Amino acid sequence: MAQSTILPMHCKYAIYMEGNLSFKEENDMIQFKSAIKKFQIEVDEIQKKYPDAKLGGALAFGSDIWPKITTISKPPELKSINTLKYLPNTTQRDMLCHILTDHFDVAFMLAQDTLKNFGHTFKITQEVHGFRRVEERGLDGFVDGTENPEGDELRTKFGLVPAGQPHEFGSYVFTQRWEHHLENWDNKSTKYQEDTIGRTKKESEEIPEDKRPEDSHVSRTDLNEDGVDLKIIRQSLPYGTASTLQPHGLFFIAYATRLHNIEKQLESMFGKLDGKKDRVLAFTTPVSGSYYFAPSKMELMNL
Ligand code: HEM
Ligand code: MG
Repeated sequence: MAQSTILPMHCKYAIYMEGNLSFKEENDMIQFKSAIKKFQIEVDEIQKKYPDAKLGGALAFGSDIWPKITTISKPPELKSINTLKYLPNTTQRDMLCHILTDHFDVAFMLAQDTLKNFGHTFKITQEVHGFRRVEERGLDGFVDGTENPEGDELRTKFGLVPAGQPHEFGSYVFTQRWEHHLENWDNKSTKYQEDTIGRTKKESEEIPEDKRPEDSHVSRTDLNEDGVDLKIIRQSLPYGTASTLQPHGLFFIAYATRLHNIEKQLESMFGKLDGKKDRVLAFTTPVSGSYYFAPSKMELMNL
């Protein structure tokens, strides 16, 4: 079975915690492994006790730390995102804890308990709380997620390593926090904004390929390789304050059967494929970035 943050859709809140792992003292590895198990047990308990909360939780690990925490072979495509020299502000970390829910109270409880259980073995460097906006629109006003694969069957196909393969039901993960500069966006015409995204604003209709700019976001990310669509599962949410007192933007997170699919989209957005950069970069900037692998529930328990 997959960890429970990949298949669910339309969650209202999320907590994304990332950081590095440290095993200096004798019992640190024991504490760490026990914290992983406690996390899974608490996720299961909350799901039973508060079914309306639709809680999901996942732990995922970076490339450098993988061989230090387990003798299980490293997932073949897993690597440090810091190796992508064209990508600004990458911040590869060891562990991601992703919690999603419709009821923020239980998510926060799980996050606090989890931090307590990992203790000093998990040095957190970024914590972001995501929330859904009306009509699932981002802070830029566009509906986000329209072309996300829907339903368990498609999400299994595009989000999970297939049954029978090594690391079956696991998933490659990419996180990237984006800070929006809405002063460079809200003053633009609807036409400019729609050309940037590649969809209409009100109804979220796709602008036909020959009518939308090649550097629109949809043209950059709707990729096809040798007849195969490079699909991913996005679980991103807006974050931050309504004012500009603190940063706000999109916490982007994607799960995929193959890291390749995510990486091709990044190459396309950042000008590596054909020199054209995604128009969204005019109003928003990535300020973090990491690759992880989220093992299946069974593999996680046996790390
Ligand atoms: C589509 C926003 C970053 C991958 C979209 C859509 C919006 C959007 C409004 C159209 C509606 C939809 O289908 O969801 C943004 C913003 C970003 C961002 C504001 C940055 C701040 C990224 C990144 C990736 C990505 C980093 C991948 C690495 C995709 C994909 C689609 C999409 C695959 C669907 C394309 C299609 O098949 O039509 N995004 N996105 N996005 N985005 Fe993003
Ligand atoms: Mg399409």
